[in-house]
Formats: sequence, C-alpha cells, structure tokens
Amino acid sequence: MLEIKDLHVSIDGKEIIKGVNLKVEKGKIHAIMGPNGSGKSTLANVLMGHPKYKVEKGSITFDGKNVLVMTPDQRAKAGMFLAFQYPVEVAGVSLFNFLRAAYNSINNGHAKNIEKEVISVLDFQKLLKEKVKLLQMDESFIYRHLNEGFSGGEKKRVEILQLAVLNPKIAILDETDSGLDIDSVKIVANGVNDLKGTDMGVLLITHYQRILKYIKPDYVHVMINGKIVKSGGEDLAEQLEQKGYDWIKEGIE
Ligand SMILES: Nc1ncnc2c1ncn2[C@@H]1O[C@H](COP(=O)(O)OP(=O)(O)O)[C@@H](O)[C@H]1O
Ligand SMILES: [Mg+2]
Repeated sequence: MLEIKDLHVSIDGKEIIKGVNLKVEKGKIHAIMGPNGSGKSTLANVLMGHPKYKVEKGSITFDGKNVLVMTPDQRAKAGMFLAFQYPVEVAGVSLFNFLRAAYNSINNGHAKNIEKEVISVLDFQKLLKEKVKLLQMDESFIYRHLNEGFSGGEKKRVEILQLAVLNPKIAILDETDSGLDIDSVKIVANGVNDLKGTDMGVLLITHYQRILKYIKPDYVHVMINGKIVKSGGEDLAEQLEQKGYDWIKEGIE
C-alpha cells in the first residue's frame, strides 16, 4: 500500500534521510524506533508533504499513486494521516468545527463524483462523542479551541481522536506515546487498536518499547543516522529496551 524506495531527504542543504526503503502493507503495523536525531520525524513529515524538506532522490507511492506530486491535503484525502510529535495550537477554531470540516472534506475527497454529502451537526456530534468516550476524554474538550491550553498528554489524545474520527488507510504516529503516563499510553493504544481490522496500516514511530506492549507490531525497524539499519519482529524492540542502541551502532561501524 505505502512504498518508500531509496528515499533521500535534505533540509537546508543537509542530508537527513540517506536511503530508506520501506513497505507498509494493509492492516500491518510497522514500528520505527531509533535514537533522537536519527531522522524519524523527518520521514513522517516528508510522507505527509511538509514543505521544509526536500526529496533529493527516491520515490514514495501510496496505493500505486506517486505521493511526491501530491499536496498535503491531497495526501490526506487519499487516506494518509499524520499524528504530530508536537501538535500545534490553533486559536479561534474549535476542535468540533475543525474535525467536522476535515471529516466532510476527506469524505468528499473519497467520493468526488457523487453529490456533496455533508454530515449534519447533530450526526457529527454523536460520532465525535462516541470517540471522545473511547479516549476517555471529557466532552467539553470538543468545544474548546484546538489544542489551546491543552496539556501535552491531552494534545496527544486529541491526535488519536482525529485518527479515530477520520479513519484513514494509513496512520503515521510520530511519538504519540512520548510524555504520556502509563494510563494514557494504554488509552491511546486502545484508540489505535479500535481501528485495527479496518485494514488500516500503521507506521508507529516511537522512542520507547512500552507502547509496543499494547500495540503489537508486525515489524520493528531501527533507524540510525537517516537509515534503517536493522529490521525484525517484536523481539527486536525488547532487545532495544534491554540493551539500548549502542550495540547496533557498533555493529554498523
Ligand atoms: N532546519 C534544520 N537544519 C539542519 N538540520 C536540521 C534542521 N531541522 C532538523 N534538523 C536535523 O535533522 C536531524 C533529524 O531530526 P528528526 O527527524 O527530528 O529526528 P528524530 O525525530 O529521529 O529525533 C537532527 O539531527 C536535526 O538536528
Ligand atoms: Mg522526532
């Protein structure tokens, strides 16, 4: 479904991603782990079309389509979703209105040739309240301005709330678990697991192994210095938890 081939990416003339190959199939969960500064967020941002990054070489395709010629909103309408490592605050826009607009826009994007079908405020409220419950958030959140004054953990839950509402074909989660206490990690994991079996592929970027106890990965990849240097199964994540990254770095040198 998502295929990355020999990807090289630079920022301000500095090469950050140095030849990444990766395939994420329907319904599969791929975890990407790696030390800080290894290029994980760069990869996530490039997948979604952040203008700051320059693709120097290689290709990204999604459902056979060339992603690199698509704008970020076209990528979202094609079924790609990114949960940010650092969600931004948007003053003046309620979470409710933001998500309803996104929901309508994405659903119309999937079905361009039929009459515009806009979900009613009441129906959307029902849908949103269900998802808010799933994430164990207070209903009052949906009427507040997007992320404004939310705690770090609340922002991360809102990212997963967006995921649950928008129901993409592939979810890229950039360190959604970082800075969360263990109960919140479990709630976030529940939110993701609730969408499994919908054929959603997941690219789960994480620094720590603990979220992988609740979201079981099919594959684990280690990214160091802009490259995927090792791939394996769930047991690789356990090894990393015990031994850190140094033994892999030594292996490369
Ligand atoms: N504007 C920039 N100019 C130069 N280097 C940058 C810039 N932005 C990010 N980087 C570098 O890119 C590298 C990868 O960063 P990032 O993708 O955020 O890593 P990770 O998410 O794995 O921690 C880091 O070394 C970072 O300092
Ligand atoms: Mg990062």
